[in-house]
Amino acid sequence: MKKLYLITDYKGFFGSKYFDVPYRSGMDRELLASFFKSKGYEVVFLKPLMEELERQNLREGVIVFASHQDPGLFYKNYLEDLAVSLELAGYRVCPSSYLIRAHENKVFFGMISYFMGVPSLNSIKSSWYGAHEDFTAMAEGLKYPVIIKSAEGSMSRKVFLATGTKEAKLKTRNLMRTPDFFLKVRDMIRQIRHKGYTRESWRRKKILVQEYVPGLKNDYKVLVYGKKYYVIHRGINKDDFRASGQGLLSYRKDIPPAILDFAEECFAIFKAPQVSLDIGYDGESCFLFEAQYVCFGTYTIEKSPFYFIRGNGHWTCVEGNSCLEEEYARSIVEYIEQ
Ligand SMILES: Nc1ncnc2c1ncn2[C@@H]1O[C@H](COP(=O)(O)OP(=O)(O)O)[C@@H](O)[C@H]1O
Ligand SMILES: [Mg+2]
Repeated sequence: MKKLYLITDYKGFFGSKYFDVPYRSGMDRELLASFFKSKGYEVVFLKPLMEELERQNLREGVIVFASHQDPGLFYKNYLEDLAVSLELAGYRVCPSSYLIRAHENKVFFGMISYFMGVPSLNSIKSSWYGAHEDFTAMAEGLKYPVIIKSAEGSMSRKVFLATGTKEAKLKTRNLMRTPDFFLKVRDMIRQIRHKGYTRESWRRKKILVQEYVPGLKNDYKVLVYGKKYYVIHRGINKDDFRASGQGLLSYRKDIPPAILDFAEECFAIFKAPQVSLDIGYDGESCFLFEAQYVCFGTYTIEKSPFYFIRGNGHWTCVEGNSCLEEEYARSIVEYIEQ
């Protein structure tokens, strides 16, 4: 039987699941193992510990990551290090380690989108900054209003609109803060001691700045699991521009096909088993606000009463609830075998 190594977190949990039992315990491991088994794969759950990994012949199978979302992203970074090093050494890592790196990292995704130059990934003009001093130097040249996003964060908590340079500088001042009182004092002493010394920045939390897409009343969250597309319509409250985190959710069968076409186009760019895409649509064009390939919110698939699939060239809506673990396992196997 073919082997899959599923890398858990330090608690032994794998992946994210909205309706998980117990609370915050991720996907159901037994269910996952049984769905994989029915497709001819033996699953080994492994903690990312050298002592556990060295007991396995990891080259025999595919190593599957689901990432992790911890405050400060310390553990997420640890998992990312492991994924990158395995891939560098020629092991089969799923999804590719750069997509694991893109988790909770809008700046990195902005960079890959820009350098790849693919139109759908660049539907919104974006730029990125690693120090507040750099941002303020460039702020005058931006086309306002702009959307300012912290690299990490969800539910719109770190997404802001700025109507002009002054507001943008003020908002980024807070967002980019990396305070350290003692180092700051030391830095001031350095300045006194060493003529010509350039002070450190105390605002080095990277940000992504995007062109603002005006006038939208909603966005669409599209979860892709291989061939199946799950879409939720997310409304926007009056006096806001952010759909994420507002709870105005509805499943609609009359999703404009342009959104599914766009999602399909975005999904095809990187080889991946799944993706979560936040898409805006103004009746004419689609805009990609955000993409996540691992550890995204799964409410959309777990509650969805139907999904969309392409057949004979057009989109068909298929009725019925889906099981997260089943669709996860199916899309991983399809990805590996394609
Ligand atoms: N460039 C933009 N123009 C207009 N609205 C945007 C833009 N980017 C994001 N939004 C809105 O803000 C919400 C949150 O942005 P997103 O990048 O998805 O961050 P989060 O990680 O918080 O979900 C989106 O759901 C969308 O409604
Ligand atoms: Mg989002």
